[in-house]
Amino acid sequence: RNAPPATLVIFGASGDLTRRKLIPAVASLARHHRLPREFALVGVARTAMSDEQFADSALNRHGLRDYPQLEGGIRYVSGGYDDPETYKRLAETLDQLDAERGTAGNRLFYLSTPAEAFEPVINGLAGAGLNRAREGSFARLVIEKPYGRDLATARELDAIVHSSFDEPQVFRIDHYLGKDTVQNVIALRFANSIFQPIWDRSWVDHVQITVAETLGVGTRGGFYESAGAMRDIVQNHVLQVLALSLMEPPASFDAEGLRNEKVKLLQAIRLPTDRDIADLAVRGQYTRGGTRDDLMAGYRDEPGVDPLSRTETYAAMRLNVDNWRWAGVPFYVRTGKRLPARVTEVALQFQRPPHLPIPTDQLTELDADALILRIQPNEGISLRFGAKVPGHSFRVRTASMDFSYDKTFREESPEAYERLLLDALLGDPTLFIRTDEVEQCWRIVDPIIEHWAKDSSPIPTYEAASWGPTDAERLIGRSGRRWRNDVGDF
Ligand code: BG6
Repeated sequence: RNAPPATLVIFGASGDLTRRKLIPAVASLARHHRLPREFALVGVARTAMSDEQFADSALNRHGLRDYPQLEGGIRYVSGGYDDPETYKRLAETLDQLDAERGTAGNRLFYLSTPAEAFEPVINGLAGAGLNRAREGSFARLVIEKPYGRDLATARELDAIVHSSFDEPQVFRIDHYLGKDTVQNVIALRFANSIFQPIWDRSWVDHVQITVAETLGVGTRGGFYESAGAMRDIVQNHVLQVLALSLMEPPASFDAEGLRNEKVKLLQAIRLPTDRDIADLAVRGQYTRGGTRDDLMAGYRDEPGVDPLSRTETYAAMRLNVDNWRWAGVPFYVRTGKRLPARVTEVALQFQRPPHLPIPTDQLTELDADALILRIQPNEGISLRFGAKVPGHSFRVRTASMDFSYDKTFREESPEAYERLLLDALLGDPTLFIRTDEVEQCWRIVDPIIEHWAKDSSPIPTYEAASWGPTDAERLIGRSGRRWRNDVGDF
């Protein structure tokens, strides 16, 4: 699968995401010969820069210059996002590239700007007629998150998008869907027969989904202050992984088949009432912590953060899915910055056997059986079960069967952004978010965010490099369960 002739236009070309993810993704596509000679890259941003400077600052570092496909095909357009002249210059540049490089009038516009710029850029593109491709060509729009800050603003953004672009032209990105291991959730569940029968309420006791990061907010304090863990990670990455893990088998893996099943699952998530929220959702903010050699600042001391900030850097929830497969099974999800390990995983914990013919004092080292899908790092799958400890007594201890991507496959996984950029160039929306999915995800997190905004009690805290606030232990402990805090330790 190679990209067709096209020009990739990145708005927010001098930004962090462009430098860290998008340019390396283009470089990697070039390196793997996925880009045709008829390919061009145009950066657009407010910062004044020449074509040469753009190429030098962003591209040389990634060795992009070494790829003959891109020789002479890199341009930069500087200007304000609300200035019609910017789009006039962009349109001229695109026409020139079509003529010089044969990019065939195909354009992929990537919005990698702060969210405030989405509306002026979309209107600017439409004002210059760039939202419509000529006959036989395409004009597509890739939109980064955050897609709104709640259901109402997501709908407003959709209205703006749809005033100029039709839904099939729109590619809302969630980079977690570009990860091979996230796609492997689909492979594991639906390309095998042995897991399907146990994937339901008769066998599963509960499921834990963890997206833990060791990093703090770094230099993104300004952005993060208006987001928080719920908007930054739960509304998108966590709910996408959850939907893929719990949805019904789609009849086919085309874009609509898969996305219909995800939406159905999200629709079945029960909303907490204002009264239960305190029992079902927990937030926290990290304070100074770590070891003497590695002391980490508290969130309120990070650059760009209000010293009295009430933004959550940790969120945990208990969710219920009201359908036949999952009725009564609790789903515990959590995410946080400055936790002790970087790990993303889905852990299905199975019920204990109905009767244990073994004395309980022989089972002290036996956990419940679990299937753990390790999204990152140590990408793979572990099945944990009880095995007899060698020796004269009949002791049973937890053992593990492990599949590791590294050991099993020689192929390297493409980076998430590389995969998704190629899909968008090819026009395949399967791994992009449909508008009704965005709405469902906001429907789920909005009541909790609103409840926290109204709550004037001090925000619970946790020390940097610890597993979150003590409230999170209570959230899961109430049902006699506990978080898998040995995550990442296989
Ligand atoms: C981004 C969030 O969407 O995902 C960041 O805005 C977070 O705050 C990042 O650090 C995590 O992505 P990954 O691929 O490193 O797990």
